[in-house]
Amino acid sequence: MFENMTEKEAREHILESVAKYCDTFHNVKKDFEPGDRISYASRVYDSDEMTNLVDSALDFWLTAGRYTDEFERSFAAYLGVRFCSLVNSGSSANLNAFMALTSPLLENYNGRDRRVYPGDEIITVAAGFPTTVAPVIQYGAVPVFVDVTVPEYNIDVTGLEDALSDKTKAVMIAHTLGNPFDLRAVRAFCDKHDLWLIEDNCDALGSRYEMEDGWHFTGTIGDIGTSSFYPPHHMTMGEGGAVYTNDPLLNRIIRSMRDWGRDCVCPSGKDNLCGHRFDGQYGELPFGYDHKYVYSHFGYNLKATDMQAAVGCAQLKKFPTFVEKRKKNFEHLREGLKERAKAAGFDIEDKLILPVATPHSDPSWFGFMMTCREGVDRKAVVESVESAGVQTRALFAGNLTKHPCFDEMRSTGKGYRIVGTLDNTDSIMNRSFWVGVYPGMTAAMLDHMCESIIKAVN
Ligand SMILES: Cc1ncc(COP(=O)(O)O)c(C=O)c1O
Repeated sequence: MFENMTEKEAREHILESVAKYCDTFHNVKKDFEPGDRISYASRVYDSDEMTNLVDSALDFWLTAGRYTDEFERSFAAYLGVRFCSLVNSGSSANLNAFMALTSPLLENYNGRDRRVYPGDEIITVAAGFPTTVAPVIQYGAVPVFVDVTVPEYNIDVTGLEDALSDKTKAVMIAHTLGNPFDLRAVRAFCDKHDLWLIEDNCDALGSRYEMEDGWHFTGTIGDIGTSSFYPPHHMTMGEGGAVYTNDPLLNRIIRSMRDWGRDCVCPSGKDNLCGHRFDGQYGELPFGYDHKYVYSHFGYNLKATDMQAAVGCAQLKKFPTFVEKRKKNFEHLREGLKERAKAAGFDIEDKLILPVATPHSDPSWFGFMMTCREGVDRKAVVESVESAGVQTRALFAGNLTKHPCFDEMRSTGKGYRIVGTLDNTDSIMNRSFWVGVYPGMTAAMLDHMCESIIKAVN
């Protein structure tokens, strides 16, 4: 088949066929008809992603390689951060980010001990995804739960000072469904008390926030940001995630924790880039011990493969258009619901609390969140909307402290703290649901979603 071809020509031939295959069998769009299932999220891709994936498969490098380098560079450039590390999921990104704060290298950070020790406290929320909090508990640190506000669905910053103790070392929270939390207040609180801020940006990639010095992408205002590239998210590589920071020391620790805990920063397959592989003194090892196998942390292997990165590189090029489409779809739902309710003779806000962007923010929405007013039965509404073919979702864990994974901690009252009440968190658990706004949605789908919701609440 490849006689008389160079390797380059053979590859081009394969990739052309792959592109044609994708155009023929994947990129065929069927017009929406009411009754067709509308999922809350879906991958949006074309032959660029598929050819990149096969191109990387033909390299057969498999682990982190040229596409990983390209992705880390381009993703950091998009966000405007100095350092980005690709990892294999958003949960791994959170684990990597949190564990970085436990590094002994932070014992003397600008003259202060900023290391997180077991028993130290981390301020967070219970209305969110479990793996924002799981690393804290796994390490033996103590999550301190603050309530959230409705309809922003983010941390109630008036509870921050009450949450503070002499054990507090960090704030670690997500931007809920793309809506940024009050970064001005949280950043100021962290600065005032010398606390780390980890922004779980897994559901908010492309969201922007205006700080006193101008607009920034969420995930870049805290000390560390994390992303997820699981298929429903803003962009995908199947499984994947990223950890990013502007701090060179945190970056070094993140890389070490991601790559088995090693001290050496040479990428996979490269040796002795610093020229000092055999002339250092580390721990109690013999002088000149191979730096490639010197461990400064008890680390993990959280790396992604180059095939994942290859898909990510193609997604990233399309990404700004995804963000714009998400914003448009969100507005379509908001306006569509209001107008249809008005035409039916009622005010939608009497039935459902609609989502509201946090002040100073420009959200890249992950979903369209609604909370049923008193007297509106969430279960009946969700069943009606689902039966019209529209997929709905709960706000992940609702209230994480109510889950079976919390049984032991709840029964002993040990290992966590709740500040005040979690009334709004409980209300979200009992009365909220959301639908998607992913870029592949058409106007006909969004109209059908509006109609189904109006029918369900009227
Ligand atoms: C806020 C948040 N953080 C973390 C994650 C975990 O990401 P992953 O599924 O890639 O592990 C998710 C997953 O949806 C999430 O919504």
